[in-house]
Amino acid sequence: MTAPLLGVGLLGAGPVTQAIHLPTLAALGDSFRVVHIMDVVGGVAAQVAEALGARWSTSVEELLADPAVEVVAICSPPEFHADQIIAACRAGKKAVLCEKPFVLTAEEAELVAAVSHETGVPILVGAMHSYDPVWLAAREAWNESGGRVHTIRSSIALPPNARFEDLATEMVGRLPRPEQSEHEVRQVQDAELLRGAVLGLAIHDLPLVRSFVVDGDELRVCSASFEPSYGYLIVLRIGGLAVELHAAITENWAPDWVLEVIADDIALTLTFPPSYVQAGSAFAELSAPGRTEVLGPWDRSGYLEEWRRLAEVARGARPAQPIEALADDLLFALAVADGAAEFLRPVPAAVVAV
Ligand SMILES: NC(=O)c1ccc[n+]([C@@H]2O[C@H](COP(=O)([O-])OP(=O)(O)OC[C@H]3O[C@@H](n4cnc5c(N)ncnc54)[C@H](O)[C@@H]3O)[C@@H](O)[C@H]2O)c1
Repeated sequence: MTAPLLGVGLLGAGPVTQAIHLPTLAALGDSFRVVHIMDVVGGVAAQVAEALGARWSTSVEELLADPAVEVVAICSPPEFHADQIIAACRAGKKAVLCEKPFVLTAEEAELVAAVSHETGVPILVGAMHSYDPVWLAAREAWNESGGRVHTIRSSIALPPNARFEDLATEMVGRLPRPEQSEHEVRQVQDAELLRGAVLGLAIHDLPLVRSFVVDGDELRVCSASFEPSYGYLIVLRIGGLAVELHAAITENWAPDWVLEVIADDIALTLTFPPSYVQAGSAFAELSAPGRTEVLGPWDRSGYLEEWRRLAEVARGARPAQPIEALADDLLFALAVADGAAEFLRPVPAAVVAV
């Protein structure tokens, strides 16, 4: 017997909903049906919902009061995530999938974890690389090898998101991105921009990086820069591990997203498809002296897998990852983001050597 379809309500109907989640849900029609779309811009909610034959609204309360909404996907800007997760938990929904970063501070993470425990509503974070089946298989193979990692490089070179959004869907209601001259970008808030870029982009790979960090090792930012128009170059030292994080969002035509993990006797190279692209999983090369094992690419993308997991969790067929692990991933990302931003801030006069 097939399980009944789970009714999905989406909070926020912008690019991530239109270009990522709706195409993913269209491929999972045996598990989900979209029943309600909410956006603060009524015209966007209406247009997106109409194409699906779903209801629409402009208020979180209205969507959560809809009994057909059994699982909630939170796709609004990050500053609204904590309140919306808490409201969805208190509304007694079966499960919540929240886009990354799922909250913005350690205090919010603690509060959300407490509410998830109190209400029993499981929370998943839309960090699709963490669900990528080739990443998971490669990580297991690495465990078996017992290699002690000393170097990690995350390198992301992508065209701007809008190029993928337009290829994925006929976007409605995209908010205009503010124009900033290079001079302004440098002058105004490099530190804040860098922090935002870590929490917006590096955050996809940081849970993967954290899985190789030895508990208790201290994180130190050795160097950090914001790269206009959007990107970063950050070097970290975490105990015996050196981590280089590099991203450049430019007009380059060829997307490139690679994570390299290196130990003396084994090395892993993971190549991910860019965000938005429903092109299956990453592929991995695991090299040791005398052998190279290739994994993938497989047809299941991280996006498909995160929604499949949500279905299993909502139906009680599988437990969700403990919320504490998601909170630890966030704390790690915040440590990188805050440490990198701090690195850029001018040294206070009192501490400047004379
Ligand atoms: N996993 C991925 O690959 C991926 C890719 C892009 C964005 N994201 C994440 O998805 C989220 C949304 O990103 P986006 O690119 O769609 O952003 P966006 O800010 O361009 O669009 C968000 C939408 O939310 C609406 N909105 C604003 N305030 C709201 C509120 N209080 N409640 C409900 N809706 C509200 C806006 O009108 C807009 O339509 C962010 O957290 C972002 O980090 C994830």
